[in-house]
Amino acid sequence: MKKNFGIIGNPIKHSLSPVLHKYWFKKYNINADYSILEASDEDLPKIIKKIKEGSYSGLNVTLPFKQKIINYLDKIVNDAELTGSVNTLLLDNKKTVIGENTDVFGLQAAYLKEIENSSNKKALVIGAGGVSPSVILSIQKSGITNISITNRTNEKCIFLKKKFKFLNLIPWTNLKSEIKNFDIIVNATSLGLRDGEDFNFDFEGVKKNLTYIDIIYNPINTKTFKYLKERDVKVFNGLDMFIYQGQKAFYLWNKINPEIDQKLVELLLSKLK
Ligand code: ATR
Repeated sequence: MKKNFGIIGNPIKHSLSPVLHKYWFKKYNINADYSILEASDEDLPKIIKKIKEGSYSGLNVTLPFKQKIINYLDKIVNDAELTGSVNTLLLDNKKTVIGENTDVFGLQAAYLKEIENSSNKKALVIGAGGVSPSVILSIQKSGITNISITNRTNEKCIFLKKKFKFLNLIPWTNLKSEIKNFDIIVNATSLGLRDGEDFNFDFEGVKKNLTYIDIIYNPINTKTFKYLKERDVKVFNGLDMFIYQGQKAFYLWNKINPEIDQKLVELLLSKLK
């Protein structure tokens, strides 16, 4: 029997998750489909019911539902519990709908495992929105203890500090002057996503051996990403994180750890601006 998977979010039309999972279904001869479900808040209980009834074997969850979905789940586990953020849903054999988080693994597998002497590094997370708890936990799990955060709206940083007590809060207005102190900077804002919108300062004076990670992968080169790349800063965009979070979700659903081969990466790149 054909299995159904999918992703819920809003807006969601441009998600690459169907491309990713369908590629692996084909590669591993799994009879399954993966669809896009543009949802509203009212749809969430109905969608969870469909999982319980077996209409969906698993779902991914993206903005703006990663936190809201928790109200409708039977339980959240592991990194989902630690972050309060869910991006993968699955059903266990007792018909319990479980919320997991594979974003934390995605970020670690993609970039953070490669950072040497992590314990001495100072990391800065820019942005305190939906993805930030996963970014913070993944940095912490990589052995980095000195983690700062800044956000245009300071209240959201204060809220995150309640969960992650070790965070240093940097006022948004100090970002320009303090940016030179960090070894790792993660852009967890939506700045760069829309044409022409990006950081309105130039990252001048950042450390020479800075690692810059942009959670955004579409467009593949944001303005800041390009600027830093041209200055020989080690830069990463969000594509690898996206692929690795999908790999772990695929494993949770199918108990197969799918390979990330060059053909897949090229296929995804061909779909991006
Ligand atoms: P949400 O906050 O609803 O979870 P998100 O898309 O996950 O939404 O997060 C957007 C992030 O990008 C936030 O950190 C947001 O800052 P605010 O909390 O101050 O809104 C940040 N962001 C979006 N547009 C921005 C802008 N023009 N300047 C600075 N930060 C911006």
